[in-house]
Amino acid sequence: MNAETGKDTRILIVEDDHGLAELLQDEVEDAGMAARLAHTAEDGLATAVTWLPDIIVSDLRLPGADGLALLGKVRTEMPKNTPDVLIITAFGTVPKAVESLKAGAEDFLTKPLDLEHFRLSLERILEKRRMREQLGRIKRLVEADSAFHGMYGRSPAMLHLFGQLRQIARAGGPVLIVGESGTGKELVARAVHEESGCAAGPFLAVNCAGIPEHLLESEFFGHEAGAFTGAGKSRQGLFAEAEGGTLFLDEISEMSPPLQAKLLRMLQDGNIRPVGSNRERQVNVRVVAATNRDIEERVRAGDFREDLFYRLETFQLHVPPLRERDDDIDLLSGIFLAQYAAAADKPIEGFSLAACELLRRHSFSGNVRELRNAIERAVVFCHMREIRPEHLPARIREGVRHGRASAGSLLQNGLRVSDESLPTLEEVERRYIRHVMTSVQGNKRAAAAILGIGRRTLYRRLEEMGEAKKC
Ligand SMILES: Nc1ncnc2c1ncn2[C@@H]1O[C@H](COP(=O)(O)OP(=O)(O)OP(=O)(O)O)[C@@H](O)[C@H]1O
Ligand SMILES: [Mg+2]
Repeated sequence: MNAETGKDTRILIVEDDHGLAELLQDEVEDAGMAARLAHTAEDGLATAVTWLPDIIVSDLRLPGADGLALLGKVRTEMPKNTPDVLIITAFGTVPKAVESLKAGAEDFLTKPLDLEHFRLSLERILEKRRMREQLGRIKRLVEADSAFHGMYGRSPAMLHLFGQLRQIARAGGPVLIVGESGTGKELVARAVHEESGCAAGPFLAVNCAGIPEHLLESEFFGHEAGAFTGAGKSRQGLFAEAEGGTLFLDEISEMSPPLQAKLLRMLQDGNIRPVGSNRERQVNVRVVAATNRDIEERVRAGDFREDLFYRLETFQLHVPPLRERDDDIDLLSGIFLAQYAAAADKPIEGFSLAACELLRRHSFSGNVRELRNAIERAVVFCHMREIRPEHLPARIREGVRHGRASAGSLLQNGLRVSDESLPTLEEVERRYIRHVMTSVQGNKRAAAAILGIGRRTLYRRLEEMGEAKKC
């Protein structure tokens, strides 16, 4: 069945027909889940309150209290760990089964039971359950405001970064933030400001690549009236405006050499000199710089002053790329989904397993920004209760995660092809299917999404390979 199913998934079967009950038990256990049997509603309830099943499969007609009564009892007596209920009913009692849906059952199946329908129904209920839990977790996170200054992260790499950030922010001194584009450097810079002793002061952000060269010096350090053509009135400059707070210098590697010299001066003794003035002035400003380029390469190439680099990099924060933090992909997808769905007033509850797998496997060269944009788009196109692969951008839908399942790595690691023994196309296909099945831990839905084939085709291929039961 799906990735969430397994020994931890519990199915309670309440059925007075012992033969059918055992058949269903075999079916559930074959799918790798735990099953227990009860033959009356009373026994069923007694087992449910102690064993806490995920799903109760109950016959509608039982000796004594019926399935509908069991459903009602379960809902009142198990308000916290309420199992979902799947009703089984004889053909003649369909109206009663519909009544059970109204009373909160998840689904009903009619006898004689089609085992394929039974499996699919369980799978669907479990997936819905998983989505509900996922959404519940995210809601709790958002409500608990568990963000670190607007940043969400639970991967070890981000938790380490938050810890380092706290210490560095309180220590004072300049900070250099490095990381690929879209990893959240600006959020990190704001967090440094908010965690520091100058949080009450202003936070000013400036993009060093965005200011015309001839205006840079006056922009940063201010100028005296008449200092140059067009300088009618005097101007304070960004350093003076950020007094008592933080000046965030984004894309620091783009700063021109003359300005680098002035910045170094300011960092060394806290003095600035406005253009056209012969007097220096002391400022108290925390400098936080960021770059998404390899700044050391710029130093080696002579484009960035080595002494300034060493002054800045004493306190360096590295924001890891999103592809190195799988836990955060899940978390951030959920957070962004909750935010965009609420803004668009759409009742989207979560991601289908296949969509989750695709997100986990994508390389996200644009990092969190790319993920955020993808979810925003998915919410626009989704008119269902879950985000499915077709709602995701083609790059994510079709992309295969670098290294993990790329053709190259497969050839090197998965297939171990050598010149002496080149396999046939059929053999390659078999090995590839096996490789993908292993890499998704037997989750057929996810494997089918990666292989780009329907689930039924995958089942058929696995059967032909004699592996249907194994995985
Ligand atoms: N941990 C996070 N939690 C929530 N949102 C995040 C997180 N990290 C980044 N974001 C969001 O991702 C987007 C990109 O972040 P940001 O602008 O800080 O990246 P950047 O590293 O400065 O990128 P660039 O190098 O392109 O300037 C923003 O919308 C930001 O709010
Ligand atoms: Mg930025």
